[in-house]
Order: sequence, then structure tokens, then C-alpha cells
Amino acid sequence: MTYNEIRQIFLKYFESKGHKIVPSASLIPNDPTVLFTVAGMVPWKGILQGTEPAFATRVADVQKCIRAGGKHNDLEDVGFDGRHHTFFEMLGNWSFGDYFKEGAIEMSWELLTKVLGLDPNRIVVTTHYSDEEAIKIWKKVAGKDAILLGDKDNWWSAGDTGPCGPCTEMHYDMGEDVPGGLPGTPDEDGGRFVEIWNDVFMQYDRDANGNLTPLPKQNVDTGAGLERWAAVLQNKLDNYDTDLFMNLKAAVSDVTGVAQTSENTASFKIITDHLRSVGFAIADGVIPSNSDRGYVIRRILRRAMRHGQILGHRGALLSKLYPALVTEMGDAYPELKREEGRVVEIIQNEENAFADMLQNGMKLLESELPKLNNKILPGDVAFKLFDTYGFPLDLTQMILRDKNIDVDVAGFEKAMAEQKERSRANTKGTRIFWESQTELSDTDDVAKYAPVDMQSTVLSILRNGEFVKSADAGDEVEIALDKTNFYGTQGGQTGDSGELKDGDTTVMTVTEAGRVDNIVIHKGTLNAPIAVGDVVSPVINANVRQQTARAHTATHLLQAALRAVLNEDVQQRGSKVSPDSVRFDFSFGRAMTAEEKQAVEDLINKWIAADMTVMHEEMSMDDAVKRGAMALFGEKYGDTVKVITAGDVSCELCGGTHIHHTGEILKARINKEKSISSGIRRITMSVGTLAE
Ligand code: ALA
Repeated sequence: MTYNEIRQIFLKYFESKGHKIVPSASLIPNDPTVLFTVAGMVPWKGILQGTEPAFATRVADVQKCIRAGGKHNDLEDVGFDGRHHTFFEMLGNWSFGDYFKEGAIEMSWELLTKVLGLDPNRIVVTTHYSDEEAIKIWKKVAGKDAILLGDKDNWWSAGDTGPCGPCTEMHYDMGEDVPGGLPGTPDEDGGRFVEIWNDVFMQYDRDANGNLTPLPKQNVDTGAGLERWAAVLQNKLDNYDTDLFMNLKAAVSDVTGVAQTSENTASFKIITDHLRSVGFAIADGVIPSNSDRGYVIRRILRRAMRHGQILGHRGALLSKLYPALVTEMGDAYPELKREEGRVVEIIQNEENAFADMLQNGMKLLESELPKLNNKILPGDVAFKLFDTYGFPLDLTQMILRDKNIDVDVAGFEKAMAEQKERSRANTKGTRIFWESQTELSDTDDVAKYAPVDMQSTVLSILRNGEFVKSADAGDEVEIALDKTNFYGTQGGQTGDSGELKDGDTTVMTVTEAGRVDNIVIHKGTLNAPIAVGDVVSPVINANVRQQTARAHTATHLLQAALRAVLNEDVQQRGSKVSPDSVRFDFSFGRAMTAEEKQAVEDLINKWIAADMTVMHEEMSMDDAVKRGAMALFGEKYGDTVKVITAGDVSCELCGGTHIHHTGEILKARINKEKSISSGIRRITMSVGTLAE
């Protein structure tokens, strides 16, 4: 019985029992308590908790799951036995307030023994010791005495909070010749008894303090690993010897030119497993990155490449194997086919970026090994591998695992913390000095949107890393005033330039106004002496201000045009707005075509020609949300926000400076569009006189 057949038999059986059959939900959960969809019940949590209405009382599906990088994490175990996977398919049937323990156990038993024809004598069952009802039902339905176990084995929840309850598990005996003991015994992991199904009786909701409250309805959540069913039904001791994996492993041999042997079998398992988690996750929209889900996928991909290297393979691997995954699983999961071009490109980018680093990092690691004392790799070496060669800590640990060498993890973390501190000091320039000025009051910069004549008092002068009472002509300094007209760099918009004046005398030429928290810092060179307490007039360069403002409004039009031409999912990932020039980063999985670039540019110029009004308004966050204003993901906003609306094409929360009519932009020209990391593109654009 192949994977494709087993899925069908399962779904047909439950359909015949009145279940609604639904397709798998995404691997990206709509649930902050888990990184991935770790079980079939994740998409149904709201229904189980009673916060969402059930669309049917009986449901069955085959759900894509990933268990890596969270409470349910099988990553470290993959490859070293025949049962663990980071990606797997969970067969599941649900009762939302319909049948309960008896119905669930009866159907599980009937499907396993009557429909699939498994020998009843080879099935052992476990239940929670407190679940007398389940114990009685097993006796009645199957004549079985359940093995009674505790919370560790027979109590189930997806996350630390949420729906949970006792469960009953069915295990299949692979035969006397296989080493391993009964569930609950010390050698239960030996492989003889394989867990093939778990029926969870969702009765409680657990809160953050661990309190259990009965759920409004009694529900059933069952989960059966398709890979294990395939192994049992195909009479294999190892999931990786079932039809789907045999075919994927054959593809690994084709791509690497290496046959599977008893020595390299772990690498074959790891590569085929990781192909599935990386391929499916990216098809569902995960993009490899340095945080959260994206980092889990990056780590998995890099581990797979390391195992390609062990097989003597160099460079791209999973991107070459992806078509085999589509052949095996594309009928059951059409998204694999639909997203093929995008997924292969993202994997290729990742693999290209890591290929050389992997070779060079391995050289460094090998040169360090003879120097080791006590079989411990120093933390700073592990950190160098991470920082310079992109080796996630767990990759280094995996590489050293065979050699029985540990990594000094505390040392690694210390080196990481030190690096963060250094880069904070470097990238922020003089920020740390200003941050140390805790007594300094915030700059009153309300006039920045509409500059006025003003007299300001000098509060602080920073020169060569030192706060001084006075400074002389020719000195390069940074100055904080009590109030200013200058816009200090923030939100991607470059700060104003201009002058600090005393009557007609220019005291200081300000090349850029920066910002540290709420303090505006005027940076530049003094033309005349200055002292704390002096009074000066801050005067901005109006031309530069106009050039920056039109570039900023043009950035909003660019975002609106990208969403109109490419799709609504395009999201800003960063921007730099300078006088008459724009750099804009956004999420999109492939290069734009020449036609798309032209269409975006044309649309922006059309909006410029229409000379639409640009409204600058202040309103409550609630009103802005009602208005449909776009906010930047991850950005913090106050209760009152500024909303910039250009005609009917763009409405964004934005604290920057803007023009009042789109015609002021004059013209826009897209210069370049390129990839800056997987799934993130960068556009550079000129506006105004620079675009002519
Ligand atoms: N949610 C249960 C499990 O994952 C069925 O085992």
C-alpha cells in the first residue's frame, strides 16, 4: 500500500462515517504559541476551545506538520533512527462535540484491524492511568487490557497553554526479532513497538498558570503518522525504507552520484527529511532568514547541505532534489507544483550563499580539531564559524557529534553577546555617548513639519567623544538644542541639513541632523565659537528638505504601485529616503520582469501627473486602523499617529516629512531592482531633478 493509497483509504473510511474531508492547512500556524503547525489539531484550536464556531462536527484530514525548533522538536534525532522526521503527515479525525471516547476508539480499532487488516494481537494500547472510561472501552471493544501510563506519555497538548487532555495510544509490534520493549518500559524506544495512532480526548483548557478548565464541549483529536503507517503496512522496520522515501533517496543518488550504503544512510535520511521540511515550508511562504521560523528553515537547509558534503557533493542540493519531491507528493499537495519556480529560486539563493562558507568553515574547523583539549570546541571558534561562515550552533554540534566532541556553548553565547555590544557601538556611532546623557531633556521638534523662525538654546556639545562646555571654529561637533526645526534621521528618512545662525552669522554648518531617542543631534563643523547656553537660530536647507519630502511621498507611491502591479502581499522591509533618491526593500520571491518594472514606474508617473492632493493628518491609532492605513510590521506607534494619504492610492502611518501635491515629485525613475537576500528585493529609484 503506497502513501497515496493509504491517504485515500483513511479519508474514505472517515467520510463513510460522516466526516467532512478538508485539505491540509498551512504549515505557518495562525497561532503564536507554536512556530509551525506541529499537529493536526493546530488549525482547529479555536474550535476546540469554543472561541470559533465548528463548521462541521466530524472532520478528517491529512495535515502537513513540522516539528523542529520548538516544544515539539525532533530535529536532532532525524537520521539516527528509522522513525523521526522534522516534516511528516498526520492523519487525523476530529469530533467537535460529537462522538467521544467510545466512538473514537471503535473507529480506530475498526480501521486498523478490519479495513487495513492489521493483526489485532500485534496491537498494544496505552491509556492515562486516571482514564477509567477509556480503560473499560478498550476491554469492551477489543478485549484489551490497556497499559496504564502517566502524563509524559498519555496526556497531550500542542503548546504550554490551550486545549489538552488524556490520550490513548495504539502501538504495533514489529515482531520478536526486533529489539525493544513495551511502551513505558526502559527500552521502549528500541523499535519493536511503534506508536501508530494517538486518540486525544480534549477535555480541558490549560492557562498560563497550569490551571485546567473543562472545555465547553468534549472533543476528539486523533493523530496518526502516515510514515509509520506506511512502514507497518509495507512491512519495513525503517520509515525511510517505504516507497516515498525510497524514491526520494534514489533522487539523492542521482544528484550526488553516490549510492546508499550502511555508512552513509544517516545522510540519506537527513537529506530526504530536510528536503520535505524545507520544500513544504517555503511553498507555504516561509522565507529563510535569521529569526524565528525563517531561521529554523535556514538551519535545516544548511544541515542538509552539510550531509551533501559528507556524500562528496558540492553546492546546490535541495534545489536539485525539489522536482523529485513534486513528483512524489505534488498530487496530494498541489501547492508544491504551483509554487515550484519560486521555491527552487529561494532554495538556490540560500544554497549559493552558503556553499563557499561551508567549504571554508569546514577547513577552519578541521584545522582547530588537533588543538583541542578535553574534546571541547572553544566557544570563540564556534562563534567564528557562526559569524564568519554562517554555521548555526546546532550545525557545528551536529558535525562534531560523530567525533564525540562538545561545544562550549556558554563561551559561544558570551562571544555572541560581546559581538552584539561591539556592533551596537559601531553602527550607532556616537549614540552611546548621547545615551549616557540621561539628564538631557528631549528636543522640542514639533516645528519640524512646518519650520518657523526660532531662537534655541545650546544644551550639549559633543566633540571627539567628550561633552565640552564650549568649542571653537573648525571643530567637528554634535549639538543638542532645546528646540529645533530640523528633522532628525528616523524611520528611514535622512535628516535635514542647514545652519545654526546668530543673526546673519553662520555659527555652524549642519551636514545632517541625527536622532537618539527623542534628542535631535545637529552634526557638522563650527564656523564660529559656540558654548553651552548660547542662543542660535536653527535654519534648515529648504531645497534639500523639499527633495527629501518628494522622495518620501514617492516612496509611498512606489509601495502602492508594487502592490498594484505585483500583488497585495508585497510588504516593505526597509527603506532609505534621501534627497531625490529612494532605496526600498520589500518581500517578493523572484526578480521583477522588465515589463513589471516599467508598469510600476508608469503607474507612479501617472499618479504624479494627476497631481493628487497629499493629506497630512493626525489621528488616533484606532481611527487610522479604520481608515485602512498601512503600518510597518514590527514598528511601534504611539496612541496618536500621523497618517499620510495620497489621493485614493496610498494611505500610510508615517512620521516623515512629505509634500502636499504629487505633482511636486516631477518625475520618478526606477534604476535597479535586485535581490538582497532570499525573498527580499531592493529597488533604487530617483525622483525630481535626479530623474530627469
Ligand atoms: N494531537 C495529537 C498528537 O499530535 C493527536 O499526537
